[in-house]
Amino acid sequence: MSTRIPLPYSPKIIQLFKKPKNLGPIEDADVVENAGSPACGDMIKIYLKISRKENKDIVEKASFESYGCAANIAAASILTDIIAGKSLEEAWKVTWKQISDELGGLPAIKYHCSILAVGALKRAIRAYYKKVNEHPEWLPENLTIEEKQTMEEEEMLERYYKAMKQLTPQTSQQQQIQ
Ligand code: FES
Repeated sequence: MSTRIPLPYSPKIIQLFKKPKNLGPIEDADVVENAGSPACGDMIKIYLKISRKENKDIVEKASFESYGCAANIAAASILTDIIAGKSLEEAWKVTWKQISDELGGLPAIKYHCSILAVGALKRAIRAYYKKVNEHPEWLPENLTIEEKQTMEEEEMLERYYKAMKQLTPQTSQQQQIQ
């Protein structure tokens, strides 16, 4: 019998985990970016197809691939749904707390799953403007608190999984299916 205590996931998280929306790559994506730690496997990849309409850069399509947990999949699913059809300026303003609220609330231990999802999106937006060699005035020059949070999460994940690996080689594998 398992000694694990099930996480208090909301019905929305369970629903999107079982049936995620916007899952899989966009073959002709304009930009693809990751957040997470390859060392531990908690990774999210965001694909954006962008078109310019009336001087605005619009997210025509957004999709994701996830190598994270149920909360990560649900966060990426709802994030890609929220930003579809929005301008990149609007998409930039989406926060991980908003994602958590839309999901009916993430357990505190799972906040980092939505931080990674939003972090990947912000990287994708920056990468897009680097690619087209532009810098709109609404895009901050320096990394924002949320972007720094993503980097901190990545560092923490790597440290945590390295420590777990040293303790019990099987533990990090078990972690990936939570
Ligand atoms: Fe959810 Fe790491 S992505 S636990």
